[in-house]
Amino acid sequence: MTSTIADRLRGNLWVPMAFGAAIVALAGVVVASETRRPVGADEVDCSKAKCVALTFDDGPSPFTDRLLDVLNAEGAKATFFLIGNKVALDPAAARRIKDAGMEVGGHTWEHPNMTTIAREEIPRQLSAATSAIASATGTAPVLYRPPGGLSNADVRAEAGRQGLAEILWDVIPFDWINDSDIGATVYMLKTQIKPGSVVLLHDTYSSTVDLVYQFLPVLIANGYHMVTVSHLLGVRQPGSSYGGRENGPPVNDIRDVPPDQIPTLPATPSPKPAPNLPITDLPNQNPGGPQ
Ligand code: NI
Repeated sequence: MTSTIADRLRGNLWVPMAFGAAIVALAGVVVASETRRPVGADEVDCSKAKCVALTFDDGPSPFTDRLLDVLNAEGAKATFFLIGNKVALDPAAARRIKDAGMEVGGHTWEHPNMTTIAREEIPRQLSAATSAIASATGTAPVLYRPPGGLSNADVRAEAGRQGLAEILWDVIPFDWINDSDIGATVYMLKTQIKPGSVVLLHDTYSSTVDLVYQFLPVLIANGYHMVTVSHLLGVRQPGSSYGGRENGPPVNDIRDVPPDQIPTLPATPSPKPAPNLPITDLPNQNPGGPQ
């Protein structure tokens, strides 16, 4: 399966690239006509209520639809930072994320380390992802996340020229390292989340979907509303950056709920733990998240 996906990525790379280039002008029109209104049907006022922005990187993946079901069942919104070439291969999956009421941001075209690629490569990594997402969802993203949170002044300046604001995070529970050890990830979430947190997760892991399924009741019991990044932060200035690679300070104010209030995991067709699907053809860039 791994080689099949890698082969498909290689075999189809040039088609979406050419297509992406062709619709750059169209994407510009979309950006210009978009009202930069915060996304999200949930009208909660995050200046008064406890809000958290769950974010999911590196998709769409075979596990994304189950995650959408889990989120929708609790009325939770989230933000998905999608990899452009994966969107180009499966635009319907990106469309389903948008149609589920989630926010979609860019995560570059092929997930490189943006601080070490050639400077002249930076614009295409951002614009091709924007084009693929605009083509798939009908809306050009206004947010992006650099792979691994690795960015610099050159990246942010180009993002600003393209109308993109950078979003990092303050909570990093290492779901891609813990993988099947859901308890370890949940511990990180419980000890780091505070009102206004932006949480880095990955929907490329079946185990992450499981942990969201079991942790949403905890967040809800603690009075949290799960909102999109734009809902939480409002309109972000293109070229700006929010959050940091470092963890926020532990606050330990999340109380646990009785075990019988935690749903047991249903039997699902997803394998556990997830096969760590490749997210890029670039060497030494797998799996998702900072290394
Ligand atoms: Ni990533």
